Amino acid sequence: MSIPPTTTIQSIAERIKTGQITRIIVLTGAGISTSAGIPDFRTPKTGLYDRLAPLNLPTPESIFHISYFSHSPEPFYAIAQARHPSTLKPTLSHAFLALLAKKNILHFLFTQNIDGLEEDAGVPAEKILWTHASYPDDLMRKAIKTGDVPYCLEPKCSGAIKPEVVFFGESLPEEFDEKVKLIPEADLMLVMGTSLRVAPCSGIPRMMEPGVPRVLINMERCGDMGSRDGDVSILGDCDVGVREFAEALGWRGELEALWEEVVAAKAKIAGPESEDGGEDGPDLDACIAKIAAQMDERLGISKGHKKMLESHLGDKFARMMAGDRPAS
Ligand code: OAD
Repeated sequence: MSIPPTTTIQSIAERIKTGQITRIIVLTGAGISTSAGIPDFRTPKTGLYDRLAPLNLPTPESIFHISYFSHSPEPFYAIAQARHPSTLKPTLSHAFLALLAKKNILHFLFTQNIDGLEEDAGVPAEKILWTHASYPDDLMRKAIKTGDVPYCLEPKCSGAIKPEVVFFGESLPEEFDEKVKLIPEADLMLVMGTSLRVAPCSGIPRMMEPGVPRVLINMERCGDMGSRDGDVSILGDCDVGVREFAEALGWRGELEALWEEVVAAKAKIAGPESEDGGEDGPDLDACIAKIAAQMDERLGISKGHKKMLESHLGDKFARMMAGDRPAS
């Protein structure tokens, strides 16, 4: 019996070069943007969720939960400001996605990110589904830039405006069900920079037809990636993994040139310095500390108020017990 050939990144690259692979489905998460300066969510210590500790939220994810946002929108906007400085630039991994699109082999991209860097790198919008958001409009961008909660201008409403982001507790756009139908047509799946911990995106890799190769480029193993014949895992920094893949494809020079081009184009739009706190935008931990102090202050007022009421009622009760009639 002959031993089936092992799938490697080189053998996959060979199949791409020879035109046997032409429809690649990509799933990305926060890890492809960490080298642009946006922390991911779940990496211990550096990820957003650990850094939210000063806010004492019910759970770190609450900040993105619709029921929490509906009564406390401030923390969401405070961190959105730090996570989306206008000077963000696409990473090499974003440029690689644009190169796949340029070569007409990107079948579709599911992204869990809302930074818009895939589009900045040149991936056409019709090839992307933002599974957690559509890109914020100008007013929303302004709110995100200042960190202030935008309120409805209608006097009868004046509620906090929710960004066009799909929060936990909300349904994904109907388009998601439409786009997952593309998955069985794919001849390669590429998963990059995600922990595969959040449904329904976490289920996408399992929707690939058995036997179709799947490539993981990520700091750690995740989901069921690596468990099937034909799976290839490149563990480590995704820009490094992407360089290895590009090298195997013979596209390294082209990739570096494209990346340089898209970074320069973004720098031109954003300008060298932005009003929102310099090159890197406002500091995330400083934004968190500021909002935590505001929340403590509000809690302090309500604690003081409670104490005052308790002592007032206590006095009233004591007078009643002593036979005094209340004044009114
Ligand atoms: P996570 O923070 O859960 O996972 C990021 C993954 O990327 C982890 O496996 C990291 O090890 C890996 N990683 C980080 N930096 C990397 C790098 N430079 N190179 C390679 N890998 C790297 O982020 P997501 O999976 O995107 O939802 O999270 C999914 C959803 O959970 C988010 O969209 C968000 C969050 O709660 C909402 O906000 C509704």
